[in-house]
Amino acid sequence: MRKAILAANWKMNMTVEETTAYLKTFLAETGDATDVEVVIIPPFTALAQASKLISASYSLKLGAQNMSAHKSGAFTGEVSATMLRELFVRYVVLGHSERRQLFGETDAVINEKVRAAHEAALKPIFCVGETLAERDGGQVEAVLSRQLRAGLAGLGHKEVQETVIAYEPVWAIGTGRNATPQQAQDAHAFIRREVAAVTDAAVADKVRLQYGGSVKPGNAAALLAEPDIDGALVGGASLDPRDFAEIVKAGKTAKSR
Ligand code: 13P
Repeated sequence: MRKAILAANWKMNMTVEETTAYLKTFLAETGDATDVEVVIIPPFTALAQASKLISASYSLKLGAQNMSAHKSGAFTGEVSATMLRELFVRYVVLGHSERRQLFGETDAVINEKVRAAHEAALKPIFCVGETLAERDGGQVEAVLSRQLRAGLAGLGHKEVQETVIAYEPVWAIGTGRNATPQQAQDAHAFIRREVAAVTDAAVADKVRLQYGGSVKPGNAAALLAEPDIDGALVGGASLDPRDFAEIVKAGKTAKSR
């Protein structure tokens, strides 16, 4: 059985003060249920405070939104895996479409980061997904295959198994237009087949796949009911602790059936 994983990617939102208020509300709403994994992914500046507030919780984990592929040195503005580990960060989002599109991250750079994360015992939440033009051009599987094979290159089977893969169609991010459960399930089934092709069936069966793109309390249950959707990577709706708590509850219900 794959443990469901619901993650809140706050992007460039939330001060330290707002983080404190958010987590107080969120923890009161959700309690500490260990049947699903919940990952809070604040901006770097709020990681230390979030780390302090969630340290007593078993099922709540901390994630970072990016990291450097380098261990240390003259890389102004960058943050290393060791610095994240020091704050008890467990997960790191890599290959997000905003990093690919706005900051020029290539498949090769993302692969370096994915490998560096594993070397430092951080679990990547590795994002893939097609643009609208690529979907309209019938390129979904070709794009996903390219991104997956490049991003996972050089990893051992255990590392692939411990990578969370997030399918985030670019046209669904921040648009209010989520992929339908069937569209998302089709993409996830394809991703699982690709993982099997680069590793084996046992790894593919265990690897966790999240859907991301306009996930809301109102659509989470239907998406998470699909067999190959093991969780959600939530942007906008995760900024409200009550909305995100509802999405977590939808995940618990959908995956305990
Ligand atoms: P939205 O939930 O705001 O569409 O963002 C999705 C996302 O990019 C999560 O990483």
